[in-house]
Amino acid sequence: MANAIFPDLRGRTVLVTGGGQGIGAAIVRLFAEQGSKVGFIDIAAKVSQALADELNKAGGTVLFKQADITDIDALKDAIADISAKLGAITVLINNAAHDQRHKFFEVTPDYFDDRIAVNLKHAFFAAQAAIPDMIAAGGGSIVNLGSGSWLMGSEDLTAYATAKSAAYGLTRVLAGEFGKDNIRVNCVIPGWIMTERQIALWVDAKGEEAIFRNQALKRKMLPEDVAKAVLFLASDQASGMTNQQIVVDGGWI
Ligand SMILES: NC(=O)c1ccc[n+]([C@@H]2O[C@H](COP(=O)([O-])OP(=O)(O)OC[C@H]3O[C@@H](n4cnc5c(N)ncnc54)[C@H](O)[C@@H]3O)[C@@H](O)[C@H]2O)c1
Repeated sequence: MANAIFPDLRGRTVLVTGGGQGIGAAIVRLFAEQGSKVGFIDIAAKVSQALADELNKAGGTVLFKQADITDIDALKDAIADISAKLGAITVLINNAAHDQRHKFFEVTPDYFDDRIAVNLKHAFFAAQAAIPDMIAAGGGSIVNLGSGSWLMGSEDLTAYATAKSAAYGLTRVLAGEFGKDNIRVNCVIPGWIMTERQIALWVDAKGEEAIFRNQALKRKMLPEDVAKAVLFLASDQASGMTNQQIVVDGGWI
């Protein structure tokens, strides 16, 4: 099936965090397919560089910067470099996260801080770094990736889910604060998406049974299902939409 074309995304500078694998990689691919200039940040150098090389070879404009997004100075340096090389960032996709499982009673204050750092804090500071570009350009669009884990009560993810619930809070406060600057901010909540990591670690026979029992759509959700919603929200086709949360989960929640 051919994907929709959003003419306004052609030539736009898009920043994606965690774009090397999973949903982020699908987002990077689809923006590159639109002719956007895509800068993405990831900690995983090998797969990320391979993705950028593949898309550039196919005619795209894709720049990978390696950084640990929990190091806010490194994150800001990478964002500044992407803006300097590709032009003013007018689309920001806050996607990076890490869903390591943890037992509630074993969570220490340091581990909790670490989960907040990898699942939330960077999204705030990426917005802080990119919004001046958007204001100067006359507007922009931010999409924060949330999670259904805090709505569904997923097991062994209390600190992760607590951090991810704030993706919606961050969406609401930024949308309110920067609507006057023509910056739209929305949140996409993926359901259980079949990324390489999910398949390798958690999609067993019990998991598959849960998918087909709980989802209204009787098929596995793919990274592209989420990426398509992200592109729509980033584009001018969603010109009146801000402050919203959209669920892409095949009808689970
Ligand atoms: N896959 C799902 O089922 C699912 C469900 C709900 C929400 N989500 C959300 O969707 C988004 C994407 O998730 P995913 O499943 O594709 O994740 P993933 O683990 O497959 O990919 C995450 C990417 O972020 C990168 N990353 C992780 N830690 C980093 C760090 N410290 N610095 C820089 N990069 C780092 C990883 O290298 C990887 O490329 C996340 O915000 C996640 O919370 C995913």
